[in-house]
Amino acid sequence: MKRFMDLADFTRDEVLGLLELAHRLEAHPEPRALLGKILGLVFFNPSLRTLASFQAAMARLGGSSFVISPGQGTWQLETRTGVVMDGAAAEHVREGIPVLASYCDALGIRAFAEGKELASDLAEIAFNGMAQLIDKPLINLESAVNHPCQALADWKTMDELKVPRAGRFVLSWAYHPRALPLAVPAAALHMAAMRGMEVIVLRPEGFALPGPIMQRARDAAACSGGSVSETTDRDTALRGAHVLYVKEWGATGSYGDAGEDARLRGALTNWCVRNDWFAASPDCHVMHCLPVRRNTAIADEVLDSARSVVRREAYNRLPAQMAVLHKLLSS
Ligand code: CP
Repeated sequence: MKRFMDLADFTRDEVLGLLELAHRLEAHPEPRALLGKILGLVFFNPSLRTLASFQAAMARLGGSSFVISPGQGTWQLETRTGVVMDGAAAEHVREGIPVLASYCDALGIRAFAEGKELASDLAEIAFNGMAQLIDKPLINLESAVNHPCQALADWKTMDELKVPRAGRFVLSWAYHPRALPLAVPAAALHMAAMRGMEVIVLRPEGFALPGPIMQRARDAAACSGGSVSETTDRDTALRGAHVLYVKEWGATGSYGDAGEDARLRGALTNWCVRNDWFAASPDCHVMHCLPVRRNTAIADEVLDSARSVVRREAYNRLPAQMAVLHKLLSS
């Protein structure tokens, strides 16, 4: 394995192999497996879990890591091509990324969507541009429309909870005061489809996931025996659901238009998950990648109940990423 950029780059069996390795490393730690290896972590955007869990994963396998947050104690890096660099950025990624890669054995990069042009974000212009600059092992720490590390940890979490392979997985839009990227909903949707689940995207009008993201998931479902559909009807979607995966994202019909997005979401503050959502799915687990705003996207009464597995998902980032690092770097 040379890169971990997208679960779609792997077969279902290869993903199951990674999950088996994650379980093995939990049960039988290998504190010398990556002795002497160095992971570089570049965060163009904030993080709590991804940053801490990758550093912990490297340390638990005997390796070490360094973290660069461009513009915060280091030079600001320009990602656009062909621009006159007379602004805040002192250095271009064309120099910066290969230099950082030369100091380590593997590099992880987080670069969120710009949120201006949907086609550009769907094409992963910024992330793929940086990926092309290096030939070292590379990990996607969250790009414009993907978050494979979160997806792998979420798959592991559902396996541990014995969620049936063909169980009902509802990916629901939730309220947030501003537009958030499509990376997590896209990755969770694809992951559940690849796992073989009955996947339903529940979202208000104006927030349908883009066609290419839905099609990728439908293609994955076609291979795994799962299915993918979408609805605006909460009661129908949640009837008998095994998992409610909650995520906030921006209006897609008016992508990049902050004013129209604000107008649309302003009427949707009732899309905050509460106990009464589960009248017809009493055993439904609630998942969210975190960070989550309490009583905005999910109410205290749900986050503090036994159905919430958000902390377990976050913990599972550690063993899932240990498996990824082991596959990428152990000889
Ligand atoms: N879920 C997730 O990636 O969390 P962070 O943004 O804190 O890394």
